[in-house]
Amino acid sequence: MRKQRFVMKLGTWRGLVHRSILILATLAIFILVVTFTMFSSPRSLTLCSEENSEMQSWNQTQLRMTIQTVTQKIQLQLEEIRDSKSSTEPGTSSLKFGSFLADIVGLIESVHEYLPELELTHQTNRGVRDTHPLLKPKQRSDEPADYFLIEEIRKYVKIKPNRLGKQNFMGANGTFTSIGHACFSMKKELEEYMDYDVGDICNDDWKLAQKLMVHGCDPLPRRRCFSRAPQLYRRPFPISESLWKLPDNKNVRWSQYRCKNFTCLASNRSPKGFFKCADCFNLSHHELPRWIKAANLDPISNVTADFLIPQVLNIKPGEIRIGLDFSVGTGTFAARMREFNVTIVSATINLGAPFNEMIALRGLVPLYLTINQRLPFFDNTLDMIHTTRFLDGWIDYVLLDFVLYDWDRVLRPGGLLWIDSFFCVKEDLGDYLEAFKVLRYKKHKWVIVPKVDKDDKEVFFSAVLEKPPRPFR
Ligand SMILES: *[C@@H]1O[C@H](CO)[C@@H](O)[C@H](O)[C@H]1NC(C)=O
Ligand SMILES: *[C@@H]1O[C@H](CO)[C@@H](O)[C@H](O)[C@H]1NC(C)=O
Ligand SMILES: *[C@@H]1O[C@H](CO)[C@@H](O)[C@H](O)[C@H]1NC(C)=O
Ligand SMILES: *[C@@H]1O[C@H](CO)[C@@H](O)[C@H](O)[C@H]1NC(C)=O
Ligand SMILES: *[C@@H]1O[C@H](CO)[C@@H](O)[C@H](O)[C@H]1NC(C)=O
Ligand SMILES: *[C@@H]1O[C@H](CO)[C@@H](O)[C@H](O)[C@H]1NC(C)=O
Repeated sequence: MRKQRFVMKLGTWRGLVHRSILILATLAIFILVVTFTMFSSPRSLTLCSEENSEMQSWNQTQLRMTIQTVTQKIQLQLEEIRDSKSSTEPGTSSLKFGSFLADIVGLIESVHEYLPELELTHQTNRGVRDTHPLLKPKQRSDEPADYFLIEEIRKYVKIKPNRLGKQNFMGANGTFTSIGHACFSMKKELEEYMDYDVGDICNDDWKLAQKLMVHGCDPLPRRRCFSRAPQLYRRPFPISESLWKLPDNKNVRWSQYRCKNFTCLASNRSPKGFFKCADCFNLSHHELPRWIKAANLDPISNVTADFLIPQVLNIKPGEIRIGLDFSVGTGTFAARMREFNVTIVSATINLGAPFNEMIALRGLVPLYLTINQRLPFFDNTLDMIHTTRFLDGWIDYVLLDFVLYDWDRVLRPGGLLWIDSFFCVKEDLGDYLEAFKVLRYKKHKWVIVPKVDKDDKEVFFSAVLEKPPRPFR
């Protein structure tokens, strides 16, 4: 009975959605057609009398406004769909409508992006030259060089033609060094970063570099100066000791950190850099039992969000050999996996503490990588990706989608994705789980456990998922 009413409700709602979608879609397709016939016709591009361009730009203004209105309307509809999705059951058809609308928004926006280019041509004709280089029409890829004042940046981003003008074995006749596009909006900081004498010692500015990277200036340009090192670098401990021992304090530059030694980082009293990993320098107590000893059992349900490494490896005995840990931490996951003969690379940045130095000093491979970047691995190569304490309830849904698809790309068919204690507020859980379900992975483990320490508002989600084979040609 209740179910029937629910279906009826969904039915009328769906009818409403249907009608508005139909109207919006018709409008959108109409605009697309009009735009393309207007601006793709060779006549409109070749004729350039003053009168004609005036007319065109007036029409463009109208078109732009119309496109904006349509985009807004569709986005409103999308939001409505999302809202009602959380209040009722997420039906597959509403999902389908949602993605259909998203597609249309994408198409319209691509037309919208096409428009400023036309307008800019008019502006430059009238002598306006002060535009952002990336917005310039038909921009050549070495033009970014003109944007920066510091000679080193200009030298770095300029296309370097191959000597003797020949193509190299990759079919390119030059080398194209690149920087992240947000470097342009952080011109001042980047110029400060690149202000040095070639062959000299660089400034002690890894923090500035990290700030640039985190804000999207990623990749950073290379530099031709010597990076600062610890004053007296001592021989690291041999691998038999290094995995579970705090490293020598002398092997880290401490100037930009609150703590000035590893004892300070490991103690539970001192003010430290990063709250999500407050204890992870305490190898002897906090880190030693992780992923080996059962812990954090929920007293009511008797389940835990902390899976053990032997359990997970037993899903695919002998098959898991290489992988990535995308987490904030000191490399303990990689250290433990090493003992199971699995090679793990630990991706992290230095959020308030020397995480990369610590991982390296333990004898493990740190990968200094922000969330902004595509993973530097080829498709279908890794056996496992593990993540904990990094992707959490803070992350934007679209960003999570891009990240998960990228992880899917590098995981091999049959590879495991281990989501370890992802936490978020209860209300958001459904939407986050949707992002994981979209991958259509096989669920080996899937648990949701209330997080007890925060007024019962948050939950943990852990899963071990297997990438399916996708036999497309
Ligand atoms: C748009 O431009 C065309 C000529 O390219 C003109 O005939 C038409 O009247 C213009 N539209 C408006 C609304 O002015
Ligand atoms: C490289 O090739 C492009 C076209 O493919 C050409 O325009 C350019 O002049 C070439 N550069 C050199 C240095 O040969
Ligand atoms: C470590 O640093 C703290 C302050 O950050 C200091 O109080 C303590 O004496 C240092 N310990 C060692 C062994 O250097
Ligand atoms: C690690 O934590 C334990 C218990 O919280 C504490 O007794 C120990 O002193 C800590 N280790 C260090 C190096 O501070
Ligand atoms: C919880 O499960 C473990 C085995 O997984 C069992 O030994 C234990 O008795 C259970 N505890 C409760 C309270 O059910
Ligand atoms: C790891 O490899 C070594 C040498 O091949 C072997 O002796 C050891 O048993 C392996 N450990 C595990 C947990 O498989």
